[in-house]
Amino acid sequence: MRVLVTGGAGFIGSAVARVLLEERHDVTVLDNLSKGFRSIVPEGARFIEGDLCDEERLPGWLRGHDAVIHMAAFIEVGRSVQEPLLFAENNIMNSVRLLEGMRKAEVPKIVFSSSATVYGAPQSLPIRETDPLGAQSNPYGASKVATEAFCATYHALHGMDAIILRYFNPYGPNELHEPETHAIPNFIMAALARRPIPLYWKGEQVRDFIYVDDLARAHTAVLGLRGLDYFNVGSDTGTKMIDAVRTILDIVGYDVPVEDLGERPGDVHATYAWSRKLAEATGWRAQIGLREGLERTIAWFRERRQ
Ligand SMILES: NC(=O)c1ccc[n+]([C@@H]2O[C@H](COP(=O)([O-])OP(=O)(O)OC[C@H]3O[C@@H](n4cnc5c(N)ncnc54)[C@H](O)[C@@H]3O)[C@@H](O)[C@H]2O)c1
Repeated sequence: MRVLVTGGAGFIGSAVARVLLEERHDVTVLDNLSKGFRSIVPEGARFIEGDLCDEERLPGWLRGHDAVIHMAAFIEVGRSVQEPLLFAENNIMNSVRLLEGMRKAEVPKIVFSSSATVYGAPQSLPIRETDPLGAQSNPYGASKVATEAFCATYHALHGMDAIILRYFNPYGPNELHEPETHAIPNFIMAALARRPIPLYWKGEQVRDFIYVDDLARAHTAVLGLRGLDYFNVGSDTGTKMIDAVRTILDIVGYDVPVEDLGERPGDVHATYAWSRKLAEATGWRAQIGLREGLERTIAWFRERRQ
């Protein structure tokens, strides 16, 4: 298929572009490089340096593609609280501009990067796609709920195929966010620098870590699906943060102290996914366990430090 990846110069988008190429799809990456890096766009992908806000050019960039994988967004939860308008503009309005561009250019399918955050504080675990969406405690989460709704509207109004992927906690090589607000890269960078590891809630929070290559394969797995559908993408396993820290220290082979950051208001205590719906629809399964994924990620961070 001819697939355009928005945000394909970012952490997850660059992995999606690579897997698409490995599976012999034709790939265009559209990214404004506000947060991404040209150097991690895989060779073999066509690259357009452009912004989703460019309503005039969008249809031309999109024409001729069979599907869009829409990953371009701002992702920092804390900044979204400080700058809600910026997040509404880039994550919601620019997604609607993209959908309009797709309608004009007759691109029939969107795969959208949503998040476990749409469930809010879960009422039961593991979280299933049929669970209700929760109240959103920050504009980033609200932007994911709103964009899911617009994708559903374009399906209802224009028959666009819309596949919503709700990621749990991705990690892996090329996670280069600035600032980095995610736990795993911060744990690894601290461990490699022999600095104390920053930890909230004494590490008792439970998360569902999904290795970036497994997550990337979920996007190619759903390309053949039609209609409107929603899928969790996780590993079906809940891991305490403190256990992730222990595994990292075991892999690096020495101890560093933990820096107790106390409790962080607004944090959900535990989330992990039921991802069997995706497995049943496509045959996709997470293949890389946490230890192997951390070994690969630590190897990448080590190489980067040299
Ligand atoms: N990383 C996670 O833990 C996580 C979890 C759940 C969902 N997601 C979603 O996955 C997607 C990718 O996340 P990521 O971690 O790879 O983020 P990232 O910041 O590494 O990548 C996002 C990319 O989008 C580009 N971009 C942003 N606004 C743009 C615009 N207006 N026009 C063109 N390009 C633009 C940035 O330059 C960047 O390359 C996002 O939609 C994010 O909300 C991420």
